[in-house]
Amino acid sequence: MQRKTTNPEIAEETMATVSAPDLGLDALKCVPPGHIDPCTVIIMGATGDLTKRKLIPALFDLYLNDGLPDRFLVVGAGRSNIDEQEFRAKMQSAMKKTGVYDDSRWPSFARMLYYCGLDFKDSDSFKNLAQLLRELDEKFNTGGNRIFYMALPPSVYQSAAHMIGQVGLADEKQNGNGWSRIVVEKPFGTDLKTAEDLDQSLSRDFREHQIFRIDHYLAKETVQNVLVLRFANSLFEPIWNRRYIDYIAITAIEQLGVEHRAGYYEQAGVLRDMFQNHMMQLLALTAMEPPSRFEANQVRDERVKVFRALRPFAVDRLKDYLVLGQYDTGTLDGHSVPAYRDEPGVSPDSLTPTFALMKVYLDNWRWQGVPFYLTSGKRMDRKLTEIAIQFKHVPHSMFRHTLEEEIAANRLILGIYPEEKITLTFQTKNPGAVVCLRTVTMDFHYDQNVKGPVLDAYAKALIDCMLGDQMLFWRQDGIELCWKFLTPILDRCEVCDDQAELLHFYEAGTRGPKAIKSIA
Ligand code: BG6
Repeated sequence: MQRKTTNPEIAEETMATVSAPDLGLDALKCVPPGHIDPCTVIIMGATGDLTKRKLIPALFDLYLNDGLPDRFLVVGAGRSNIDEQEFRAKMQSAMKKTGVYDDSRWPSFARMLYYCGLDFKDSDSFKNLAQLLRELDEKFNTGGNRIFYMALPPSVYQSAAHMIGQVGLADEKQNGNGWSRIVVEKPFGTDLKTAEDLDQSLSRDFREHQIFRIDHYLAKETVQNVLVLRFANSLFEPIWNRRYIDYIAITAIEQLGVEHRAGYYEQAGVLRDMFQNHMMQLLALTAMEPPSRFEANQVRDERVKVFRALRPFAVDRLKDYLVLGQYDTGTLDGHSVPAYRDEPGVSPDSLTPTFALMKVYLDNWRWQGVPFYLTSGKRMDRKLTEIAIQFKHVPHSMFRHTLEEEIAANRLILGIYPEEKITLTFQTKNPGAVVCLRTVTMDFHYDQNVKGPVLDAYAKALIDCMLGDQMLFWRQDGIELCWKFLTPILDRCEVCDDQAELLHFYEAGTRGPKAIKSIA
């Protein structure tokens, strides 16, 4: 009798797509979920990279799709001594490099952009900003509602936030102010102590409901879809636990190197840059219990419970749970790329990790004993972001006399990048007179039968901030729990004598250090 085994590498022709009806809804037309108050977004650090690359494109995209309130302004605030015409011109030339630019609609959007020169350490300069904002409010009737977006180096957050408070702009519903919100980008501190200090400092002038700690991963469409898949279907939840799941692998790897960010990255490394925030949030969404309602605090409570269940790392047995790496020279897409240590601004004997694989356990009823493998790295062979749920093998194979190898277990992949998709692999019988199995997948592509582009994460975060909805933002207790988990590892890795020994070099353009085999 012919024998055939299952093949985990799924051939193209074995893919079956899932039918997704066309609801006739334009993805971006779904944007305004309700009334959005008139408001002004003040971008602190307006001539920086984040403004050009993310914030203005996201706001323009919303504008093109009627996602902004009728009365809306952007005030760029920065050190450069430019006027509003120059600011508009700078933003226009940056926008032309993005896929969002529309020549016919830009002039009307640009009329909403203003600029204010700002010295982040000078209170008079903040008084000028306050004066300008009040004049603009009066002229354009924006109700004194304001979002202060800190697109600044973290070292300036605390003083800038305090100056905003000192000139009366953090107060709500007083002196002509409407609501006032502050958006803070990661890193939220560099360890537990500095995260607590940052929070204490922000809370001198802002209350928790005013503070929006952004994590753009949470605002990605397909990341939000994890909750819908889990909690809007009765199929998955009963098997979403230790009885049926063997392990979960959460991966966010990229081809990019450190680029021009050595100043920040040398201090941060991959653990602070990716794990303390994005990886922890992906873990939380995958592992959390169903909230009783889809409301900000209920959802955030459940995410925090996951962080509370993180098993503290056995720092004396770090090698059993953690592999750290740093990229060496290599080839990517046919071009040779430098080693991390040869990148501009990086110390030639740097021990900063650019890769980590971490095996994490959650000590709770649902997940006891199930390993979560979290992997993130720079200069890898491709950019890939996904959550893979690996189910257990069948408990008994009645095909064992027919098949030589064990049957591949079911696998559910929640793809976030490059393909936004959900795939489920399962076994079927290959047509024919003999018993041979083939692994097939059911494939759902997120953009299947949907008109228009998927909403950008920054656009989603900005909309939620205008609506005052904090569901997709970090709460301080979550940040502190994650730092509590990571700080002992960082202490162990950064101050120990064998720091160099813990770091494995890997060739750029590959799948990371060979040492990953030791714990994977
Ligand atoms: C950022 C990190 O938060 O996320 C970067 O600072 C990383 O180092 C980036 O490249 C990855 O984001 P995305 O959305 O491209 O996966």
